[in-house]
Amino acid sequence: MSYQPPAIYGIIGYPLTHSLSPLMHNAAFKALKVNAVYKLFELKDDEELKLFFEDLKQEGNPILGLNVTVPYKEKVLAYVDSLDPFAEKAGAVNTLAITHQRKIHGFNTDGPGFLSHLEELNFSLKGKRIAMLGAGGTARAILSVLCLVNQRPAGIKLYNRTLSKARNLVEELAQKMDTSIVAVVDSVEDLNVELADCLINTTSVGLKAEAKPLVDPGHFHADMLVYDVIYNPAQTDLLKAAKAKGAKTSNGLGMLYYQAVLALNHWSGVDIDDKYKKVMRQTLESSLK
Ligand SMILES: NC(=O)c1ccc[n+]([C@@H]2O[C@H](COP(=O)([O-])OP(=O)(O)OC[C@H]3O[C@@H](n4cnc5c(N)ncnc54)[C@H](OP(=O)(O)O)[C@@H]3O)[C@@H](O)[C@H]2O)c1
Repeated sequence: MSYQPPAIYGIIGYPLTHSLSPLMHNAAFKALKVNAVYKLFELKDDEELKLFFEDLKQEGNPILGLNVTVPYKEKVLAYVDSLDPFAEKAGAVNTLAITHQRKIHGFNTDGPGFLSHLEELNFSLKGKRIAMLGAGGTARAILSVLCLVNQRPAGIKLYNRTLSKARNLVEELAQKMDTSIVAVVDSVEDLNVELADCLINTTSVGLKAEAKPLVDPGHFHADMLVYDVIYNPAQTDLLKAAKAKGAKTSNGLGMLYYQAVLALNHWSGVDIDDKYKKVMRQTLESSLK
């Protein structure tokens, strides 16, 4: 029997030191005896990104699938041969599937991954009042699914430290979808967290323990869900404060898991089976204990 080189998957971004994706994907490949490996491809700047894509297009390049993270989720749009409708509307790509003919297809599984996690949490968006923090790449994906989903929230209040970024994001998305339910507010107080059914933190505030939550914990209440996209630390100060007030809380580990499952579905062309998913989830959860 001849040697079969492993299929190569991976993640591009910079920096990549904290990514859990290699751990999760390689554990699943190993447990299920899939001849594949998931690697980190740290690309320091736009020039390295350009060279990487020139190489990726070459016949014989063994890479079949990639995840894309900060700061390239928007920049890779320039390199894809096709885009799935959600990625096109959101204007960001976090998953690339590359055919043997070296055609590059772009997807965004962050938004759908977030929705799948909300479903798992039994949180229905229909008619809900959402308060949201942040206007970066993650906010773009989440705001897009919240606007595009069939059972839409009643309203979304969006606050970002740099107000112009929030305004520009909503203006840009408005070209591709109905954003009439979104209102950009210019202070955290105007989010009216005390009236919200759900607060979503999409900022990186909380990654470092010394950072104070952006929202006054006095506004949390027992009838709300507080969702922090951060998963490491597993309990940010925001989540701790919300829990203390009786709110339901969740970190972003489920979103990370679901976006990865959806990425694998795109790479393999089929819905991956439950055995595979179980290894991925267990690996993620045990890595953060
Ligand atoms: N769970 C998951 O699957 C998942 C997926 C992707 C990302 N994430 C997490 O999501 C977080 C954000 O990622 P991203 O890609 O959206 O990053 P990004 O594009 O760099 O955006 C960062 C956001 O955080 C805000 N911010 C940063 N420092 C702040 C501070 N000190 N005070 C107030 N606001 C601040 C920024 O506001 P300005 O615009 O004012 O700078 C911006 O809105 C990261 O922690 C990342 O790990 C989780």
